[in-house]
Amino acid sequence: MAIQSVGVIGAGQMGNGIAHVFALAGFDVLLSDVSREALDKAISLIDRNIERQVSKGRISSEDKQSALARIKTTLNLPDLGQTDLVIEAATERESVKQAIFEDLQPHLQPHTILTSNTSSISITRLASRTDRPEKFMGFHFMNPVPVMQLVELIRGIATDEATYKALHEVVGKLGKTAASAEDFPAFIVNRILMPMINEAVYTLYEGVGNVRSIDESMKLGANHPMGPLELADFIGLDTCLAIMNVLHDGLADTKYRPCPLLTKYVEAGWLGRKSGRGFYDYR
Ligand code: CAA
Repeated sequence: MAIQSVGVIGAGQMGNGIAHVFALAGFDVLLSDVSREALDKAISLIDRNIERQVSKGRISSEDKQSALARIKTTLNLPDLGQTDLVIEAATERESVKQAIFEDLQPHLQPHTILTSNTSSISITRLASRTDRPEKFMGFHFMNPVPVMQLVELIRGIATDEATYKALHEVVGKLGKTAASAEDFPAFIVNRILMPMINEAVYTLYEGVGNVRSIDESMKLGANHPMGPLELADFIGLDTCLAIMNVLHDGLADTKYRPCPLLTKYVEAGWLGRKSGRGFYDYR
């Protein structure tokens, strides 16, 4: 059965980007969150981000209007039970994700595929708590979703081939490229990216460089579009720390220990761009 409708859980930076690309690709989108303000903010962000594409001449104003019309919002999670594909993009905490799947499960249609946009948590473990581990997958988008080409597809131990094929086809319809990753902590992208960001924080912590010199070095010396500290602020320092903890716990290797400075920033509530302060000051 072809996927036509998509439920997105969480209207934060990943959730609104996911809703944006699905709506532009012609899918009906139902975006849910626990707060009306978050949903309203997401819709105005999507409007602004699609407008960037209109102003570059990549899509027409009509495309924009029909994409926006395809996005509906709800505060009532069970409404997502009517969709063909559910993408959970809530906070990167396993207990939160598990509670969401538990609440949603009784309302799902039998054919609905469940996915999580988790950047690091075990897909097999998340799937095992649901009634459909064979129809459960990791579906990991990169930030900013409308710009980044890659989507990681992660099969849990029980995921069936039909589910994998259906999601692979969806990635093609979005005009993106799928990479398959095995279900080990942080998959491919974050297994490599996060230790680099963590090492940049150690470089700062040990006084080898300052924020600007570290970022400048990696931008001009390694041709990265953003320096690692700027990128950490962009991703969210809480998310970076959560992923380092998953690597550290899951692989039991001290090379993944989170830098104490990263922990301190998160404890201070300095979470990067979203909180107004991280390695840089955005206020
Ligand atoms: N929606 C739509 N378009 C957007 C956008 C958005 N949210 N954000 C940026 N763009 C578009 C801009 O309109 C612009 O389009 P053109 O090329 O047509 O001009 C283009 O993207 C570049 O944007 P800007 O000119 O504003 O800024 P930039 O050149 O500095 O690029 C960037 C911004 C694309 C974010 C770039 O800095 C970059 O690639 N940074 C690295 C991002 C990255 O590494 N992401 C992965 C993070 S890891 C992850 O997501 C996994 C995880 O689980 C943590």
